[in-house]
Amino acid sequence: MNRLSVIGLLGWLPYSWASPAAHFARAPTSGVPTPPLSSAPVVIVPTSIPHTSFSGTPSVTGAVNASSVGSGIPSLGLSPAATTYPSDGSLHDAEPAPYVPAGGLGTNGTTPVYNAKSDFDFESLSLALYQEYVELDLFHYGLARFSVQDFQAAGLSAEDRFLIEFMANQELGHATMLTNILGAAAPRQCTYNYPFTTVQEFIDFSQKITRIGESGVYGFISHLDSREAAILLTQSITTEARQQMIFRQFEGLFPMPVWFEVGVPQSWAWTLLSPYISSCPDNQTRLAWQNFPALRILNQPNPARAGKSVGNAAITNSTITNSTTFGLNETISSGTNTLNSTVAANSSCVNSTSMGGSCHPAITHNRTTPLSWPGRQVWLSWETPGRPVGPNNSYITATTAGSPRYVAWASQLNVTYSALTLSNSTSGYTIQPNLETYAGDPAINGTVFIAITDTDLFVTPFNISLLNPHVVAGPGLYQAG
Ligand SMILES: *[C@@H]1O[C@H](CO)[C@@H](O)[C@H](O)[C@H]1NC(C)=O
Ligand SMILES: *[C@@H]1O[C@H](CO)[C@@H](O)[C@H](O)[C@H]1NC(C)=O
Ligand SMILES: *[C@@H]1O[C@H](CO)[C@@H](O)[C@H](O)[C@H]1NC(C)=O
Ligand SMILES: *[C@@H]1O[C@H](CO)[C@@H](O)[C@H](O)[C@H]1NC(C)=O
Ligand SMILES: *[C@@H]1O[C@H](CO)[C@@H](O)[C@H](O)[C@H]1NC(C)=O
Ligand SMILES: *[C@@H]1O[C@H](CO)[C@@H](O)[C@H](O)[C@H]1NC(C)=O
Ligand SMILES: *[C@@H]1O[C@H](CO)[C@@H](O)[C@H](O)[C@H]1NC(C)=O
Ligand SMILES: *[C@@H]1O[C@H](CO)[C@@H](O)[C@H](O)[C@H]1NC(C)=O
Ligand SMILES: *[C@@H]1O[C@H](CO)[C@@H](O)[C@H](O)[C@H]1NC(C)=O
Ligand SMILES: *[C@@H]1O[C@H](CO)[C@@H](O)[C@H](O)[C@H]1NC(C)=O
Ligand SMILES: *[C@@H]1O[C@H](CO)[C@@H](O)[C@H](O)[C@H]1NC(C)=O
Ligand SMILES: *[C@@H]1O[C@H](CO)[C@@H](O)[C@H](O)[C@H]1NC(C)=O
Repeated sequence: MNRLSVIGLLGWLPYSWASPAAHFARAPTSGVPTPPLSSAPVVIVPTSIPHTSFSGTPSVTGAVNASSVGSGIPSLGLSPAATTYPSDGSLHDAEPAPYVPAGGLGTNGTTPVYNAKSDFDFESLSLALYQEYVELDLFHYGLARFSVQDFQAAGLSAEDRFLIEFMANQELGHATMLTNILGAAAPRQCTYNYPFTTVQEFIDFSQKITRIGESGVYGFISHLDSREAAILLTQSITTEARQQMIFRQFEGLFPMPVWFEVGVPQSWAWTLLSPYISSCPDNQTRLAWQNFPALRILNQPNPARAGKSVGNAAITNSTITNSTTFGLNETISSGTNTLNSTVAANSSCVNSTSMGGSCHPAITHNRTTPLSWPGRQVWLSWETPGRPVGPNNSYITATTAGSPRYVAWASQLNVTYSALTLSNSTSGYTIQPNLETYAGDPAINGTVFIAITDTDLFVTPFNISLLNPHVVAGPGLYQAG
């Protein structure tokens, strides 16, 4: 195998691999003559790793930071050039070639170089790689963990299991691509620990993890300095988007209940992802992103439950402790707030055949009784900062926000806020807001991101990360539909 086929796209890379074989599988070298290989080998990952929590002591703690750290991003207002293009349908500049309108980035003929071009790029792409490795491990692990009978009881067939296996292999490709872009310091595969104990919980967890992966990338992809990295990442994240929808279908949910998929900041994705990473190799490249305190949705809608999820507007401060009546804590983890599938058999919708009430795996289901609705009381509790979290318990949750006052709802093109009524300093409730993204498209549906904030700052999809200094806790994933 020649060097170029080892490093694929990256024949130009400025460093040398001490031992390419240590990182990349070799293509088959023996057997009958085959056509010349054009395929690039993929990253090597251990096939069997333990899935337990980390019990050691971290050798380093905290996010990486630079030698100089500023005090915040200023609000600069409009850039003067932002509105000068006339947008009148005429051509305003000479065309560089026939049929080629002037403008664009990376369109002038320079050779593309598929690397990171800034700290922002390296940290964002590394986060995406941590995510791909979680998914690679998660999909394989789910298949290995549960029996054929377990999958069948959840309505999933051998063909469905093959689709999960295929999705795991897609992650091998995504991890390879990102490793090639990042080079020798690319983060490696870690060990993981997941909260699920049933197939339905595994499917819901996977649906939520792929939502984090997809939305986490949308949040930064248009900000990358490396336009070259951005196109490859687009080509992988569109695949991830399909995975997210397939897990929704496996869960018996309406496959795509929104018109737009939300993008969220890197620190939101890292906050949600990192608790499931138990330990990483000693010299693992660390990340610069923030871990916010964890957010728990006490009456998270439960897609495995028939009919209206319990936990509605009748909850009061005194009944919030009554889990029988209100279906409280039907989750197995804060953050992702993954469902607990242990509901009474007559409350499970997995074998239901009723129109509008079934959550048996399917291309689509009407859930005619929605999982949530505007006006629903949503009860929340959250941690205080300073807790160790993530790989080797080596990151520390932090916030720079003031007192909790709002719940931010990030969904589709919108970030909107609802007032928070505190029960005590780390818990309270809010009312699910009522808004449409465009007429006919209720904004809050599917898996949405909610966070506790100290203010109702106006942000839009391109500057949503300006909210980070105001996040008290979260995000948590709210299963609106
Ligand atoms: C930067 O990291 C060092 C070492 O973890 C820590 O002591 C310091 O407080 C950090 N500085 C900032 C501004 O986060
Ligand atoms: C071509 O575009 C790249 C950025 O996309 C820029 O760095 C370079 O200077 C441009 N080259 C010329 C000749 O304009
Ligand atoms: C659903 O039906 C399958 C058999 O097809 C069974 O194994 C499973 O226990 C049932 N689940 C529930 C919650 O009734
Ligand atoms: C970590 O150490 C291993 C073994 O020495 C080496 O192969 C790998 O490249 C190192 N990783 C990083 C990110 O430096
Ligand atoms: C979500 O969308 C589905 C499909 O249109 C709809 O049935 C459901 O009522 C919606 N849920 C909410 C909370 O708007
Ligand atoms: C819960 O208690 C808080 C503080 O005592 C109070 O402001 C709020 O109105 C109460 N909420 C409900 C639903 O009773
Ligand atoms: C729900 O979970 C929270 C956080 O773990 C806990 O404080 C609360 O007591 C639980 N409530 C019930 C009704 O189990
Ligand atoms: C919870 O609510 C149910 C139904 O309203 C009631 O029967 C039960 O006594 C309540 N439990 C507690 C501990 O308040
Ligand atoms: C799910 O809920 C059941 C019943 O409350 C409980 O026994 C089980 O431990 C929960 N599962 C997880 C993974 O927390
Ligand atoms: C599915 O839901 C839509 C929107 O509520 C409704 O118009 C349609 O009649 C439903 N279809 C069936 C078969 O229930
Ligand atoms: C606040 O209320 C939550 C939910 O009832 C509870 O889990 C938590 O222990 C309380 N915190 C304090 C500081 O009282
Ligand atoms: C939601 O986003 C759309 C599209 O940007 C915008 O028109 C609408 O005003 C937003 N709604 C709210 C409540 O922010």
